[in-house]
Amino acid sequence: MNGKRILLIIGGGIAAYKSCELVRVLRRRGASVRCVVTASGQKFVTPMTLAALSEDKVYTDLFDLKDEAEMGHIQLSRQADLVVVAPATADLMAKMAAGIADDLATTLLLATDKPVLVAPAMNVRMWDHPATRRNVATLRADGLTVLNPDEGPMACGEFGPGRLPDPEAIADAIAAQLDPAAKPLAGKHALVTAGPTHEPIDPVRVIANRSSGLQGFAIAEALAKAGARVTLVAGPVSLPTPAGVHRVDVETAAQMAAAVDAALPADIAVMVAAVADWRVDAAPAKLKKEAGPPQLNWQKNPDILATLCASAQRPGLVIGFAAETENAADQGAAKRVRKGCDWIVANDVSQDPMGGAQNRVHLIHADGTENWDRMDKTQVAQMLVQRISDALCGN
Ligand code: C5P
Repeated sequence: MNGKRILLIIGGGIAAYKSCELVRVLRRRGASVRCVVTASGQKFVTPMTLAALSEDKVYTDLFDLKDEAEMGHIQLSRQADLVVVAPATADLMAKMAAGIADDLATTLLLATDKPVLVAPAMNVRMWDHPATRRNVATLRADGLTVLNPDEGPMACGEFGPGRLPDPEAIADAIAAQLDPAAKPLAGKHALVTAGPTHEPIDPVRVIANRSSGLQGFAIAEALAKAGARVTLVAGPVSLPTPAGVHRVDVETAAQMAAAVDAALPADIAVMVAAVADWRVDAAPAKLKKEAGPPQLNWQKNPDILATLCASAQRPGLVIGFAAETENAADQGAAKRVRKGCDWIVANDVSQDPMGGAQNRVHLIHADGTENWDRMDKTQVAQMLVQRISDALCGN
């Protein structure tokens, strides 16, 4: 970010305190930051704090005539390389979507000819409200980058999406916006499942699929490197968490289904996990060998991929995996239609024991099948993420 100039507009909301840290992070990365605080923003952070952190004058008032003479609001809005709104309140986004310019912040936003990145923060109900959904869609259609808020406990005591992302994550999105080639998936949320599931028979025995988790973890890592915010729902595997990836560990298919649901909304889903198709009613105590082979009461597990594809919150791009021992391409094509996903990556597992470092796959989409050479799983991940970037960003 060396030498880049950022105009940071700070809206009113408890998350405004994080904008102080954002100023520090951006400056540490080499950018200069000029701050504008709305009237309600000043209830949470003072211009003096921001002036000290940015080592620059802080702008608050459209009708500060002395400043209009020194620096008109048009000039202020155009001297930056990027305009960032963090936190953006529901009210501020509504005004931006409507083109209202009734204070310095909204006037700058209407007058600017520079790219604008918006980091919303608000109560979960306000974020979910149809009016806010409409305004966010309008801003995105107008070409602004609107980050999705983080999910978690909120200052108001509720839980859900609405938290301002961490300053480092906002800074990553800003860096990506300033250099789009480096991070094509910045601002996107990618959901990945990986590994097997374990379905308990009793406290010591499980039913499992053979899966190392290597391919899914490699895909999560490649998505994060491409700038996506990644949630990795991992079954029981012993692999380190890739850098920058948010990992949720689960054991069973039911837990994986719940974790996938809780991670929505997402822009991209890559469902790599080898989910057990069945579970049994687990015995509360260890079954004794002497009692002979147990009678197991089998039940079907939820199909996480098919459920996601049919859900109201279906991500824009859903990719499933299919491990096949024969006719991988044909079986994968049928699976793509059956599950309702956009692409299927069909693995040919006939020659390769699972857990190896390499993979031979076919990428199946609506227009046909691509047969990729055998290659390292990390390379499969990189090629797949390149295709995802092409599909979502048209690069
Ligand atoms: O039906 P099959 O298991 O062959 O489909 C594989 C694909 O479906 C993978 O993407 C896998 O993650 C997903 N799947 C799932 N839930 C299941 C079974 C498979 O999401 N219960």
